Amino acid sequence: MRSQAVERISVGPVPGVSKPTMRDLVSTRDLSPAEVRSVLDLAAVVKARPSDFRRTLDGKQLVMFFEKPSLRTRLTFEAGMASLGGTAFFMDQTGGRIDARESLPDIAHNVERWVDVIVLRTFAHSTVEGMAAHASIPVINALSDLEHPCQALADYSVLQERFGNLKNVTLAYVGDGNNVAHSLLLTGAMLGSHVRVATPPGYQPNAEIFAAAQEIAQETGATVEAMTDPREAVSGADAVYTDAWASMGQENEADARIPIFQPYQVNEKLMAKAAPHAVFMHCLPAHRGQEATDAVMDSPQSVVFDQAEGRLHVQKAILMLLLWGGASRFPVRSAHV
Ligand code: CP
Repeated sequence: MRSQAVERISVGPVPGVSKPTMRDLVSTRDLSPAEVRSVLDLAAVVKARPSDFRRTLDGKQLVMFFEKPSLRTRLTFEAGMASLGGTAFFMDQTGGRIDARESLPDIAHNVERWVDVIVLRTFAHSTVEGMAAHASIPVINALSDLEHPCQALADYSVLQERFGNLKNVTLAYVGDGNNVAHSLLLTGAMLGSHVRVATPPGYQPNAEIFAAAQEIAQETGATVEAMTDPREAVSGADAVYTDAWASMGQENEADARIPIFQPYQVNEKLMAKAAPHAVFMHCLPAHRGQEATDAVMDSPQSVVFDQAEGRLHVQKAILMLLLWGGASRFPVRSAHV
């Protein structure tokens, strides 16, 4: 028998969680500020009462196409879907690009006949955009070279749990201006929070993403700043965040990047410049001794495994909001939602 919570959710999501209108999650920009808050709020309820949601996606099926390796993303989508009553399938695309064998539209028009949601991890962001444009079912970006929206949503769920009001939180990202930095900028901006990004010259965030974050920030009261001095970024911050100096696909640059990024290493000396209550964050996998030292990774300030756990709760919330919201807005899917 379904619990009362599930019955209530089946006609309208959790009280305080606004009605979802999400279609796809290709970019954080697919969400409104209210929808970003809905994801975090629902994730908090899912985390607190997982058993209330056991049948929520009964019969729903998810497929993952991954061009890059994964531990956290794959397992949290698989475990998350199973815990909601659904099923997940994994298509290993690490041997070649998704559209090497047949065109993206043809793949989309096959897959939409079989399953309810597509999760993509790709090199080119345009592959995720293309799948979303052609598939009539929701598409989720599980990391592209441009954005990693699920990661940043999980990260902000950890910060909300730790600090409460995100409008008072300053996150300092130190390192490469990569997909994770982009998603932190966009998500922090949506939430009215404060994000500083310090990178070496030449490794700044994508200019178009940064401009989009600035535009969102003007609406929400957030601030987003880009700089080159890691100490300036970290000064008084509530959270210090770093990521690999060379992302997946940049392995041949890894050695050349070490001396460029060494001044951006998060070590005890840099952490000491943050607020005394500051947390240390990393999306993982970490290159211990490069972007972060063992002393910081294993310190009481480190919330890296809370972030990994947050992926599970946040992605469950995303799946529920996409699949609940999709049925009424997109009748083409209503036959099988
Ligand atoms: N943070 C993250 O996306 O981890 P994986 O690469 O293991 O999925």
